[in-house]
Amino acid sequence: MEKGFYIATMGCQMNEYDSEFLGLQLMEYGYTPVDDPENADVVLINTCTVREKADQKAMSLLGRLSRIKAKKGEGMVLGVAGCLAQKQGKRLFHRFPELDLVVGPRELTEIRGILNAVLFQKRKMIATRLDLPPLNASKTTHQLQESQICAYVSVMQGCDNFCTYCIVPYVRGREISRSPQDILEEASFLVGQGVKEITLLGQNVNSYSWKDSSKSYNFASLLHMLSEVDGLLRLRFTTSHPKDLSDDLIRSFKDNQILCPHIHLPFQTGSNDILQRMKRGYTREHYMELVYKLRDMVPHLAITSDVMVGFPGESAGDFEQTLDLMEKIRFDTLFSFKYSDREGTVAAYMDGKIGEGEKSRRLNRLQTLQKEITLQKNMELEGKMVAVLVEGESKKGGQLMGRTNTNKIVNLSSNKGLIGDIINVIIKKAFVNSLLAE
Ligand code: 5AD
Ligand code: SF4
Repeated sequence: MEKGFYIATMGCQMNEYDSEFLGLQLMEYGYTPVDDPENADVVLINTCTVREKADQKAMSLLGRLSRIKAKKGEGMVLGVAGCLAQKQGKRLFHRFPELDLVVGPRELTEIRGILNAVLFQKRKMIATRLDLPPLNASKTTHQLQESQICAYVSVMQGCDNFCTYCIVPYVRGREISRSPQDILEEASFLVGQGVKEITLLGQNVNSYSWKDSSKSYNFASLLHMLSEVDGLLRLRFTTSHPKDLSDDLIRSFKDNQILCPHIHLPFQTGSNDILQRMKRGYTREHYMELVYKLRDMVPHLAITSDVMVGFPGESAGDFEQTLDLMEKIRFDTLFSFKYSDREGTVAAYMDGKIGEGEKSRRLNRLQTLQKEITLQKNMELEGKMVAVLVEGESKKGGQLMGRTNTNKIVNLSSNKGLIGDIINVIIKKAFVNSLLAE
């Protein structure tokens, strides 16, 4: 009988990519994907731990899946992968005795060996080394599951920045770039399968760097190399760090014909004091200068960002500085969070912790302001013609969904034959989270 697997993915795009990688490993091992964990022989949860909420979500899902496993007994292997697995390690076995394996984000290549040991030696397995080469997705040996228009390709793993609030360097290890050849091979394979848009992933893509005997590459030259993949219509990347945003990369937005005019450039806070306590390596003035440079290069460039409220020591005045920066820059979209302590990070031990109530009030004010800005910016597109890459059916059904090159979601009524094409449409109505086209 065929054996089935089920993978639940929590967290960021990097995790989605990693889950796809895990899925391919399991398929090569003879498993097929199933929709319901109750029917799966192997159930994995790919977890996130970047904020406290992510931990809580993962723990509650683990509890639910543990109860299913308790019912099914040895017929099911239950595992935790990803950042929470890395952070908690064997503590997870104590808390969830049903658990069979714990595998960190750098160990995913080992999943088949780990599974073997669980299945045939009846051992509980834990794999959390960090000093390993980056994952090399073996996509070339597999057909993609269904007609997929957009795909991710990882260009680097890990992070060396150690911002004082962030747990990522501890759970994803040191920064390491993949070879341009591997990246090109994976991208070309995906495009050969019908993919039209590729998003390059890394915790800090700007510090991509590779040297071999004949040539050295930075991120801009990697983008240039990928722009020559025949049939690739759009190229995106995430995430960039303001302190490493080079003039070379800024120029790519003009020179690279398939690079989309959108950058995700987390600013975190508008206060210089807090930026320093976060160890971000730039000031608000430097950040604004980068935005001016980017907009000088490409006036219609979309800029999105991450911000947090309630970092230890954030005064009312510091928070006003954040709102002020938002009003000056007018981001297209903002991902906003309440600061939460992450065990082992420097900020977790800082003085001046802000209460939950105050954090919520600040977050509400910030989100109300951003909603207005996002809506106003989207409304500027009403009546305008935009180019949309049609990705598939819309979530609600009955319509198609695509995105502008500035990464705004567009819903439109059209026939399915257009999936995978870039079409010109006129925006009829703008909302906060999407646009409606004729
Ligand atoms: N608390 C709140 N938000 C955090 N982020 C990272 N660490 C924390 C934390 N401890 C946010 C940052 C980052 C995004 C991925 O998550 O804004 O850019
Ligand atoms: Fe979560 Fe960050 Fe890990 Fe992504 S890298 S899974 S956001 S902790």
